[in-house]
Amino acid sequence: IFIKDISGFEKIESMPGISRIGLDVLMDEIKEIYDLGIKSIAIFPVVDGSKKDEKGNESYNESNLVCTAIRDIKKNFPDMVIIADVALDPYTSHGHDGIYHDNYVLNDETIEILIKQSLSLAKAGADILAPSDMMDGRVGLIRNALENNNYKNTIILSYAAKFSSGFYGPFRNAVNSASNLGDNSKSTYQMDYANSDEALHEVALDIKEGADIVMVKPGMPYLDIIFRIKEVFKIPTFAYQVSGEYAMISQAISNGLLDKKVMLESLLSLKRAGADAILTYAAKEISKEL
Ligand code: PBG
Repeated sequence: IFIKDISGFEKIESMPGISRIGLDVLMDEIKEIYDLGIKSIAIFPVVDGSKKDEKGNESYNESNLVCTAIRDIKKNFPDMVIIADVALDPYTSHGHDGIYHDNYVLNDETIEILIKQSLSLAKAGADILAPSDMMDGRVGLIRNALENNNYKNTIILSYAAKFSSGFYGPFRNAVNSASNLGDNSKSTYQMDYANSDEALHEVALDIKEGADIVMVKPGMPYLDIIFRIKEVFKIPTFAYQVSGEYAMISQAISNGLLDKKVMLESLLSLKRAGADAILTYAAKEISKEL
């Protein structure tokens, strides 16, 4: 769910059927999702340019858009499980997931802010924190901070195997980070998609640091990675059918090029590979079909 400081819905051109949603209609949307039997949502803020800066300081403001939405949802739907992304890209003026300096993201300085962001999200009521930033060592440090601040039941879903993928394009349009990022890539901190062993290495580190769940992202082009992780670690493994995959399939369906059944076929391939849960923009449609 993309939330924005607007009233009503704003269509996302790059993602058919998906909108940015204002807080005034968010509860109706959540009710619809809840009634469809979906037990968990991931929530992403679209942040006004005036609130962005070099260090993403708005990310830990306890009354920012995402914290406000989480509090509202938890008040009205206490058993809806909320997944909140931990990363700075919605909040930085340059669109990177961390503090950017001399063509590099500063790992340790970024983690200091990610910890503050995590605590604000946990305080607002997020059940699952999902670090998607890919800094080294952040899972352990976030876990410590949660323990020390008495958020002992907050779950960490680590985007452990997150590849530097072109399939995130529509998402970056959806959250308006694409124009900030320009031609810069995230390849200094996201993984090289030519390398599969590194994914296992990253997962091993994240488990050791205290991750409860690991995520593979994107989904369908990375089925081998899901399969290997599940085989080796037997840890809850989630797959993210990302914006580009969703856009590709749903555009082909709406053009009449493919039958609408291919969405379910694609999601089942993730399940077959070993995914315990799937994050998808098609959740509403698919649960109607199921
Ligand atoms: C940000 C983040 C991204 C996605 C989820 N969290 C984008 C990125 O890394 O640039 C992508 C999701 C999608 O494409 O659906 N840290």
